[in-house]
Amino acid sequence: MAANVSTERRVSLHGEWSSRFAFILAVTGSAVGLGNVWKFPYIAGENGGGAFVLFYLFCVFLIGLPIMVAEISIGRRGRRNPVATMALLGSEEGGSEQWRYIGLLGVLAGVLILSFYSVVAGWAAAYIFKAGSNVFAGADAAAVDAQFDALTGSPLVNAMWHTLFMGMTVIVVANGVERGLEKAVRILMPALLALLLVLLGYSMVAGNFAAALEFMFAPRLGELTADAALIALGHACFTLSVGMGAVMAYGAYLPDEHSIGKTSCAIVFADTIIALLAGLVIFPIVFANGLDPAIGPGLIFQTLPLAFGQLPGGAVVGTAFFVLLTFAAWTSAISLMEPGVAWLIESFQLSRRVAAWSLGLAIWLLGFLSAFSTNVLSNLKFWRGTFFDNLDHLTTNIMLPLGGMAIVFFAGWIMSRNSTSDEIDPDAGPSYRAWRFLARYVAPIAVLLVFLDVIGLLDAWGLA
Ligand code: PHE
Repeated sequence: MAANVSTERRVSLHGEWSSRFAFILAVTGSAVGLGNVWKFPYIAGENGGGAFVLFYLFCVFLIGLPIMVAEISIGRRGRRNPVATMALLGSEEGGSEQWRYIGLLGVLAGVLILSFYSVVAGWAAAYIFKAGSNVFAGADAAAVDAQFDALTGSPLVNAMWHTLFMGMTVIVVANGVERGLEKAVRILMPALLALLLVLLGYSMVAGNFAAALEFMFAPRLGELTADAALIALGHACFTLSVGMGAVMAYGAYLPDEHSIGKTSCAIVFADTIIALLAGLVIFPIVFANGLDPAIGPGLIFQTLPLAFGQLPGGAVVGTAFFVLLTFAAWTSAISLMEPGVAWLIESFQLSRRVAAWSLGLAIWLLGFLSAFSTNVLSNLKFWRGTFFDNLDHLTTNIMLPLGGMAIVFFAGWIMSRNSTSDEIDPDAGPSYRAWRFLARYVAPIAVLLVFLDVIGLLDAWGLA
């Protein structure tokens, strides 16, 4: 089979999206999630804003976007789960079947990420009820902190919300991702955007908007440390859901006639707008209340309730906000499981139901390590901190960029020009050529440089 490049189109083993729009919604649902609203503001805060934000934008458009195009193209060409697709295209394109390990690394990354993602999504779900019961009305920063500590400090409560969220995720994945997901994303994503705009209005009026703009966008390029650059790169992959096969799995269900390039650009653009908006909502509140932008993972839970406590109708706005955030996390969680579930179904001839519940069980159990990281295990620190911190760092900042680099390298160097242009643009026009340049040179080299920088080699060679 080696070097026998197929011209015959394959069909997906798990059904197809009903339209291009359905695919856009599913990938947007995957991309927009806790990464945008919870993670981006807190890591931007921890890493000093400015240079970090600009480098993040660089990574999103020049590294993340070409990886996304590569990943969806590979997925649609292989039309299997990411492990089988990498093995199949690997041998077909004259490389090797061993490319399957990139797929497996992705499946593993998805499992590890979901284990802590679900815990944070559980916080968002818990806050629906906190906001709804009006506990934040007139609350000051200390009262808001106490609410967050009561939730994350209790192993039982934390684990319960994690359990609930994992249950919700498995139910959808067990039923097949096409069903239901589509309709829900279509309504709830625009609603999330609208609500962020309302909150932006509040932050512009009641917050310190000028300080927030300064913090987020003043270049201060000299301040970008190697560690911050790695975190920005990792987050670019995380927020776009690339580097672990999620969009590859979704690409496998994309009908042949749709444009991958345009779709990816639209999704990357939307994802970036939502993240920047979240930052522009949160930092004015941080600076107006004299809070520390670097307080870490609790940032949105310790700032937004201050706004909900002051806004007229804040209980309603707050409840709606956390409903939409939980929903956004849910559609991302589904995509984190899909590569693993598709792989289990195809490799072990399991039913979708059995595959989803078994994988879900494993992720749920693993999630306890993260659910307990803010309470009973909070003193158990090694390497980057708690279990939660380590899982996050290992997956987001190491596995995703390396997985993404391998995928974009595969598309740029191993796959033939004919195969990729066949998926992306049969006429091989300027945007195809731009993609190929980014995929072959810019993205892999940029990822490599960031890693060399982290291990100190750029310094040693006098380059940084
Ligand atoms: N992109 C999602 C978010 O921003 C997280 C995610 C990462 C989903 C990797 C799938 C794959 O919340």
